[in-house]
Amino acid sequence: MRNYRVAVIPGDGIGQEVVPEGVRVLEACARRFGFQVHTEEFPWGCGYYLQHGRMMPPDGLDRLRGFDAILLGAVGDPRVPDHVSLWGLLLQIRKRFDLYVNLRPVRLLEGVRGPLSGRGPGDVDMVFVRENTEGEYAGVGGRVAEGTAEEVALQTSVYTRRGTERVLRYAFELARRRRRRLASVTKSNALQYTAVLWDEVTEALSREYPDVEVWKLHVDAAAYHLVLNPQRFDVVVGSNLYADILTDLGAALQGSLGLAASANLDPSRRSPALFEPVHGSAPDIAGKGIANPLATIWSVSLMLDYLGEEEAAAAVLEAVQAVVRDPRLRTPDLGGSATTQQTAAAVLEVLR
Ligand code: NAD
Ligand code: IPM
Ligand code: MN
Repeated sequence: MRNYRVAVIPGDGIGQEVVPEGVRVLEACARRFGFQVHTEEFPWGCGYYLQHGRMMPPDGLDRLRGFDAILLGAVGDPRVPDHVSLWGLLLQIRKRFDLYVNLRPVRLLEGVRGPLSGRGPGDVDMVFVRENTEGEYAGVGGRVAEGTAEEVALQTSVYTRRGTERVLRYAFELARRRRRRLASVTKSNALQYTAVLWDEVTEALSREYPDVEVWKLHVDAAAYHLVLNPQRFDVVVGSNLYADILTDLGAALQGSLGLAASANLDPSRRSPALFEPVHGSAPDIAGKGIANPLATIWSVSLMLDYLGEEEAAAAVLEAVQAVVRDPRLRTPDLGGSATTQQTAAAVLEVLR
């Protein structure tokens, strides 16, 4: 029997509320589609930090390495500086496991009233390929003369040809399996080194993929067109920071961050892939039981796809679609009054 080992890190805030629902969906899929899933939970995050002075134990990454996949909720708590919590856990996993593709689908589901009135599912169906290991998140820089009036802080972007080419190639291949349109987002009018390298690699690769139509655009224009002309986008590829920002915009196009899913992949499969909602720990609603679990459940669908359980992956996405079609089953972020558990239970019922 197919057997998958999944590490589960609920993390902080609403991560604690939405991840258990994702695990239930995973287990329901195992029963219905005839595979086994063994989950192990790790209590890492800001609570752990406040007790132990670190976000995960020193051998944390080694303990994750043997798993087939990781499901993560969110990291972040007002009691811990965000750069400490994120660099201590999530960014560590992405970087050290070389999960260089961050895949983020953006689709407007039927029944959800998007912010662009009159638009429907046919207008918003794209997937972001975010470079996930370098760029603006390289972690290179420093501060001198700290605390003085002469203080200088530097944060250097690092774009390597290898890192740029591998993520662009992934995006071209993905475009080939979809509608063959690739939007490549940079800011090469102002950033004459990093972004120009990115553009040159895009051009070189586009000669290998003549069947893929490439649209090179600057990130400011991309933000504009994503809102006014979402139907023009199919696969969107961008650097770490630009795609981070644009995928929250993408989540808004979907109607809520509560629907935005993500997969962090090392396509060579040397490391376990990490699946997580795009959203954070949402301290403003944490503990109220009203966080939308569908972003996490959609991320579970991405995980099932990655594990080769395509039928289960499609069933989960169909169940999500069926649930949001019914206004009574929506959480407050989608204008409803359902709780996290009610929405998740409805997904489970459709799945069964
Ligand atoms: P956020 O994504 O947590 O919240 C932004 C807004 O979206 C809030 O109003 C929140 O209530 C709403 N929202 C988010 N997810 C929702 C859901 N599932 N259902 C309903 N509403 C939802 O972003 P933020 O406020 O900028 O960050 C809060 C904390 O989370 C910070 O510590 C930040 O660093 C961290 N963060 C972590 C991750 C991650 O772990 N992947 C991602 C983003 C932010
Ligand atoms: C995301 C998040 C993270 C990122 C933060 C929390 C470091 O915003 O996954 O989109 O910027 O990558
Ligand atoms: Mn983000």
